[in-house]
Amino acid sequence: MNILILGSGGREHAFAYKIAQSPLCKNLFVAPGNAGTASIATNVAIEVLEFEKLGKFALENQIEIILVGPEVPLVAGIVDYFKEEKSLSKIAVIGPDRIGAQLEGSKDFSKQFMNKYGIPTAASRTFTASELTEGLAYLDTHSTPIVLKADGLAAGKGVIITSSIAEAKATLKEMLADKKFGEASSKVVIEQFLDGIELSVFALSDGINYVVLPEAKDYKRIGEGDTGPNTGGMGAVSPVPFANNEFMAKVHSQVIVPTMEGLKSEGINYVGFVFFGLIKVGDKPFVIEYNARMGDPETEVVIPRLENDLVEILVATAAKKLNEITIKTNPLTATTLMLVAGGYPEAYHKGLEISGLENIKEVHAFHAGTKLSDGKIVTNGGRVVALTALGNSITDALAKSNTAAQQVTWQGRYYRTDIGKDLLK
Ligand code: AMP
Ligand code: GLY
Repeated sequence: MNILILGSGGREHAFAYKIAQSPLCKNLFVAPGNAGTASIATNVAIEVLEFEKLGKFALENQIEIILVGPEVPLVAGIVDYFKEEKSLSKIAVIGPDRIGAQLEGSKDFSKQFMNKYGIPTAASRTFTASELTEGLAYLDTHSTPIVLKADGLAAGKGVIITSSIAEAKATLKEMLADKKFGEASSKVVIEQFLDGIELSVFALSDGINYVVLPEAKDYKRIGEGDTGPNTGGMGAVSPVPFANNEFMAKVHSQVIVPTMEGLKSEGINYVGFVFFGLIKVGDKPFVIEYNARMGDPETEVVIPRLENDLVEILVATAAKKLNEITIKTNPLTATTLMLVAGGYPEAYHKGLEISGLENIKEVHAFHAGTKLSDGKIVTNGGRVVALTALGNSITDALAKSNTAAQQVTWQGRYYRTDIGKDLLK
């Protein structure tokens, strides 16, 4: 069958790499893709929000499955668009519809959902622009640190954590009154700070059944030792030692099951990935956020450990037969290091030639922000390439990823050398 992947990051390159190995896939397309996807699939110059063009392309190329990578087209209703257009309604779009995607698209929606279904999460209150005065008064009574979250999508920048009540008040004003994040901050969730260690857990739902994929730990801060501003993710490790059977049993019973049952109770036909952004406080799991997609760079460590045929899994998802799938996981450890542009997550240069990709051994380079320019691979984003290795241990896999990271370079490239080291203690 012919398959189309939407997106252009390391996550989409990892999906493409896995799907390209499947005997069930005849032609694989990625829209818009990057230099990495171009080497194993056909890139299509259509952006992820150009639904009409995507629909036309899908019909012309007999696409049977569309796998949606990022959240933006899901929140904008790509699934609804394909369902409502008669000629497109037979194409299986893997991702939740507009309402299901609200789990990620609205922090207030996800908070209400978690509270309704008894899913452990930080205590919170939501304020709208007309409730600014109440919000400011509420902050006076709040313990510190304080977490403020813009309700809508804000490209990973919508969460502010501060120990200063004055700063929290200024931020609340900026978000609600000055619309710092546009419509996304027309509501703000103020929540309790949870002190613990983060874990990313993934399920894939067909609306009735679901499977759980390998878990991963992501490293969001730019600097060594988890310091500095947040990024999209600087590296990842899977499996995660503290996510042992006992802890994962709690995640299952307290988080995954009530989420899946809650979605059904709400009448949401959730088809697609649910990303549970968890924090382990003591020995208890709490949900920090849901995402309506796979994580990036988590996918770059989850997919290499998945032994199943991904196309078989996607077909079963579309047919609502995930109960027939047993996930098989490679017991090896996967680590990935994200090489980023100098300056990221602030301003950075694009178009710099990348060298050394041809020299790396035993490591897979999943391209994120890259493109082909005059036959050369050049940088085209902040996060540029994720180097994934498999090994017998975290130390073993990290050694391979690190060796490769030294070889792949361009002007100003940066990466963290401490990814995974906290898990060795
Ligand atoms: P989010 O966009 O909701 O994932 O938040 C971004 C990051 O902020 C998370 O990955 C956490 O590191 C941090 N964070 C969010 N909410 C909380 C919280 N309630 N307590 C502590 N840290 C948080
Ligand atoms: N790595 C975190 C995310 O994909 O949101």
